[in-house]
Amino acid sequence: MTSASQKTATKKEKERQAGFEPRILAFCCNWCSYAGADLAGTSRMQMPPNARIIRINCTGRIDPVFILDALNQGADGVLISGCHPGDCHYTSGNLKMRGRFVLLQSMLKEAGIDPRRVHLQWASAAEGDVFTQGVTAMVERIKKLGPNPAMKDD
Ligand code: FES
Repeated sequence: MTSASQKTATKKEKERQAGFEPRILAFCCNWCSYAGADLAGTSRMQMPPNARIIRINCTGRIDPVFILDALNQGADGVLISGCHPGDCHYTSGNLKMRGRFVLLQSMLKEAGIDPRRVHLQWASAAEGDVFTQGVTAMVERIKKLGPNPAMKDD
């Protein structure tokens, strides 16, 4: 790469970063986190509008492939949110997710993806504030990391 094309690449990268608004995909379990997100909305709690929620029955249903697909298809970050340990409506789905999450983190590292792009958070139906804080922290973290490098268009 020539110095002129390096300058162009750097300029393009800065332009990409300047107005960057992360696209966050949030997988929320129906029984706790989705209800918590709903509570945050009905209570008019403030949070960045960057997260798109996918409601699932339980975090135990999440296959790590869902996360990799989300990142491959343009998500800058993925939030997984479910019931607190001991509160899963399917007894241990969240514990299974926690085990998979550890595996997922090493898969992401192997694939050259910063594992901080994926976050696991517990939030009950009464914890709209916890959900809100989780989304806000995630957006701030991803803004620092920048756009998903897998989505570079040049
Ligand atoms: S039902 Fe919420 S994590 Fe299992």
